[in-house]
Amino acid sequence: MQQTILKTINDINKWKNNLEDNINFVPTMGNLHKGHLELIHQSNKDGSNETLVSIFINPLQFNDKKDFKNYPKTIEKDIKLAFSSGANAIFLPSEKEILNIKSLIYQKACKKLSSNLCGKSREGHFDGVCTIVFRMLKIINPQKMFLGEKDWQQVIILKNMIKKLNLKVEIKSINTQRDADGVPFSSRNNLLTTSERKDLQFFSKELKKAKKNFLVNKVINLEEINNSFKNKNLKVEYLQHLSAFSLNESIDKENITILAGAILCGSTRLIDHVFLMKRKPIIAIDGPAGSGKSTVTKLIAKKLDFIYLDTGAMYRALSWFLIDQKISYENDNILEECLKKLNIVFKTNLNSDQDIFINDICVTNKIRSQKISSIVSSIASIGKVREFLVKEQRKIGDKGGIVAEGRDIGTTVFPKAEIKIYLNASIDERAKRRKIELEIQGQDINFDKLKDQIKQRDLDDSTRNISPLVKAEDAIEIITDNYTAEQIADKIIQIFYEKLPKEIKNDF
Ligand code: DC
Repeated sequence: MQQTILKTINDINKWKNNLEDNINFVPTMGNLHKGHLELIHQSNKDGSNETLVSIFINPLQFNDKKDFKNYPKTIEKDIKLAFSSGANAIFLPSEKEILNIKSLIYQKACKKLSSNLCGKSREGHFDGVCTIVFRMLKIINPQKMFLGEKDWQQVIILKNMIKKLNLKVEIKSINTQRDADGVPFSSRNNLLTTSERKDLQFFSKELKKAKKNFLVNKVINLEEINNSFKNKNLKVEYLQHLSAFSLNESIDKENITILAGAILCGSTRLIDHVFLMKRKPIIAIDGPAGSGKSTVTKLIAKKLDFIYLDTGAMYRALSWFLIDQKISYENDNILEECLKKLNIVFKTNLNSDQDIFINDICVTNKIRSQKISSIVSSIASIGKVREFLVKEQRKIGDKGGIVAEGRDIGTTVFPKAEIKIYLNASIDERAKRRKIELEIQGQDINFDKLKDQIKQRDLDDSTRNISPLVKAEDAIEIITDNYTAEQIADKIIQIFYEKLPKEIKNDF
């Protein structure tokens, strides 16, 4: 395999001109350790792209001149390690090449994300990171950039910058790599004395212990952890428990949080963290009828081994029951009394599909009739009905590990779902799918009539007063025309894994 060293932007451009594949970019500041090597390895494994590793000690991200001067420099060793780990090319620019240009565009890191944790004491650090990464992205134009989750705040800030500037690069984050004693690999570890290393070990162990306790009692007692550091005379710069994505301090309603800290070992500053999760993740899938929700949701549940929740089936089952039992559901009191005695459950059948039971009656097929389809929207718009079913749905999703489909999952049922997807498709495509579905069930219906029915149901679902069908603010819209259910399910699973820290994958 050709191993290329590139020193100037000119070199990069010439190299790019001869490339057939896209570029995976691994930015580093050198003194490569196993954490970097894992990034290179993962990049190399990821498709056919060329892996370009940059080694550049960025002066803009050091607020302390001494720290910059002392930062370990091991270029010759780094080159060998990068190539033997799978790098196709190494970019080794001079400071002049990167920074001495009139048109250098300085970037500001998002204030909210950079005001806590390392941003507290390292004034301008993240602005420097953003400026250099932006510059590198402009020079290299990679398809993917690989970053280590050890610097989770940096990952979050760079993701934010990329989104804000609408840059076309995918961030792949890789979980923190640790040494046998539990300490995360870091270029600065070389600077530690034996006793300083022991301090760092203790720090990492305490974070791990806090995570173990959290699994049982779901609380983090910062004071207690800080006391254990004090007893060991550790110089803790910060220890914070924040939302993992917004890095906010208000975490009561947050599911995934981060307990992160920095300690001073002599004059060396080191960081570590653990991710915490109150319940397993939730995937919310909303969208109009025929957008492909059911097939896609079922596939995702199977692939992730998550619970599959079809909330539409619950509205249908309830509608069937009210009609079958001739209950005057327009009367609030009668409806309320009826709901008190209702029991809706899903059970897996012999075909590994789900059956739905209402008061022990299996209604799986009955709820798909035209009669139910035409009445369900109006019953689903009754406040008491929604209140009852939303409560039932939340009970099912209480522990997470669920993928739920409906109309109000991301907005009402699970507003704190880890990812929210809004599936949509053209009316023609949706009617086509519904027609095939109905034909399989032996029902024949005129295509135009079906289209009108779908339009009417869209209108009813999106204009009702309570929990109308709307795309949640933070939902990702996917148009499913011309894609198979398998493709859409894989895309959603990819979005899901990209959003979550890789480190918590072992926790669910
Ligand atoms: O997805 P479906 O066609 O089986 O849903 C049946 C009806 O139930 C649909 O008209 C809208 C309603 N519904 C709802 O209001 N809220 C949900 N979460 C799910 C379905």
